[in-house]
Amino acid sequence: MFVSYLALVLMGITWTTTDGDLTFTQEPGAKLYRQEGSNVALTWDYKVDKIGELEYIIWRVYNKTEMKTRNLIVEYKKFGYVRYTNYTLSAYGTERLKKEGRATLVIKDITFEDSTNYRCILSGENATAESLVELIVTGHTYVTPSVISGKVGGSATFTCSATGGPSQNFTWMRGGQKLSVMVNM
Ligand SMILES: *[C@@H]1O[C@H](CO)[C@@H](O)[C@H](O)[C@H]1NC(C)=O
Ligand SMILES: *[C@@H]1O[C@H](CO)[C@@H](O)[C@H](O)[C@H]1NC(C)=O
Ligand SMILES: *[C@@H]1O[C@H](CO)[C@@H](O)[C@H](O)[C@H]1NC(C)=O
Ligand SMILES: *[C@@H]1O[C@H](CO)[C@@H](O)[C@H](O)[C@H]1NC(C)=O
Repeated sequence: MFVSYLALVLMGITWTTTDGDLTFTQEPGAKLYRQEGSNVALTWDYKVDKIGELEYIIWRVYNKTEMKTRNLIVEYKKFGYVRYTNYTLSAYGTERLKKEGRATLVIKDITFEDSTNYRCILSGENATAESLVELIVTGHTYVTPSVISGKVGGSATFTCSATGGPSQNFTWMRGGQKLSVMVNM
């Protein structure tokens, strides 16, 4: 009785240590900054230690408006097919959002709306792995300086404005020297 119990415990330990592991070999990083209008590749790759362990891969996005995590794409490894969810088809279409390579998610022509968290999940019978990236879409910055007034011996006013988001830092330079920095304007 005791012996068989011990054997079970030992087998349990062996199971957990020899289970196939799912591991990411490449991840986009915690934060990715990309400019509005560009195409972004959230590059993931993985390895599977045990054949047959990986059952499906799922890519998700956090929709800030809905405050909900939505499935984008599901790849059923066992059956060998990739399914784009209805959410993806209506919110992006397969032209703007696409799976490429083994686990890379490509989003084309990004907008500020696309600034959010994306995750890739590897799922198997006995193992899962999850990887998250925050995409931060930045604006094109157009700087328009102008001299308002200035006379010899007097003072001159320079103004500078920029469009784009989400927030910018301004640095005033004079002859290569930093004069002042304004943060998060
Ligand atoms: C998952 O674990 C069970 C119990 O140890 C084992 O029988 C099965 O083969 C494992 N599945 C895979 C895909 O490794
Ligand atoms: C997705 O769209 C198709 C076609 O419009 C529809 O038949 C199906 O029920 C939808 N699936 C879900 C889960 O909403
Ligand atoms: C978030 O959800 C709303 C409401 O369903 C939808 O209109 C919008 O396109 C979604 N946002 C993104 C970035 O897909
Ligand atoms: C702006 O400056 C602050 C403080 O130095 C820094 O934390 C932040 O990352 C900067 N932002 C950008 C967009 O460079």
